[in-house]
Amino acid sequence: MPRSFLKSLLAAAVMTAPAFVPNAHAAELTIGFSQIGSESGWRAAETSVAKTEAKKRNINFKIADAQQKQENQIKAIRSFIAQGVDAIFLAPVVATGWDAVLKEAKEAKIPVVLLDRDIDPSGKDLYLTAVTSDSVHEGEVAGDWLAKSVGDKACNVVELQGTVGASVAVNRKKGFDTAVAKHPNIKVVRSQTGDFTRAKGKEVMESFIKAEGGGKSICAVYAHNDDMMVGAIQAMKEAGLKPGKDILTVSIDSVPDIFKAMVAGEANATVELTPNMSGPAFDAIIAYKTKGTVPPKWIQTESRLYTAADNPQKIYDSKKDQGY
Ligand code: AHR
Repeated sequence: MPRSFLKSLLAAAVMTAPAFVPNAHAAELTIGFSQIGSESGWRAAETSVAKTEAKKRNINFKIADAQQKQENQIKAIRSFIAQGVDAIFLAPVVATGWDAVLKEAKEAKIPVVLLDRDIDPSGKDLYLTAVTSDSVHEGEVAGDWLAKSVGDKACNVVELQGTVGASVAVNRKKGFDTAVAKHPNIKVVRSQTGDFTRAKGKEVMESFIKAEGGGKSICAVYAHNDDMMVGAIQAMKEAGLKPGKDILTVSIDSVPDIFKAMVAGEANATVELTPNMSGPAFDAIIAYKTKGTVPPKWIQTESRLYTAADNPQKIYDSKKDQGY
């Protein structure tokens, strides 16, 4: 067994033992969730699924909307600690700056579960488990799809990054860069944050189009989420370009609107991120609180690629049942 893995198991055991409450029942649990905000369709769906999943399990669930600010998340965590909740869910807006407040939660013997984003390794002992996808892999899947689609053709890519300092933005960039590095014909010529929002995605894409001769030299857009891509598609159309045809698109999340764009022939590919992060998180906390079962340090959710060949209308229709 690798030493680092053994170390993380030991760390988990040390942190979990004092917080174990024998005979706790799910219906008696109060869980506080520090949510980032509602920057994207995916984020709104994650919040709505979390409420549904809490209801299914009769959990007393409190959500604090941080409106994209880490300071609000820290305040919310402190308030949850003061209220003596049984567990805290945290979707960390950025990866750094959590150690002090998570130490306070640990001292109060309140287990913390990370949802959908990670924090820096210095905080590894300060949370019980993280429910996330492999966001480096998501970027690789996007890059591999593009490489396969363009073949040997020279391709200039513009990239819309997620929120600066967010683990998923760092990882999705890393994964994509690694995948396209194997193909010297593909070059990322511009890369800027669009903050995971539609409005910013559109604005940044407009500036890319201007800087790239009206968009003529752009072969593809890679966006770290679908909302930014939807904004970028709008910018391309307004500039007289044909997204999905003249300019290829690949993004992440699989929100309904990207499938609508695929049906219209204006988007090409998306990598799915499930909005159900809380279901596995609730199950882990219930097992931990009622039986003392220590979850793995990482509960990984699946990612898969969808393209226009996957019956986007059918997927669009099915998304309504997934919290969208
Ligand atoms: O952390 C997950 C990312 O956050 C989603 O991909 C994006 O849409 C959201 O804002």
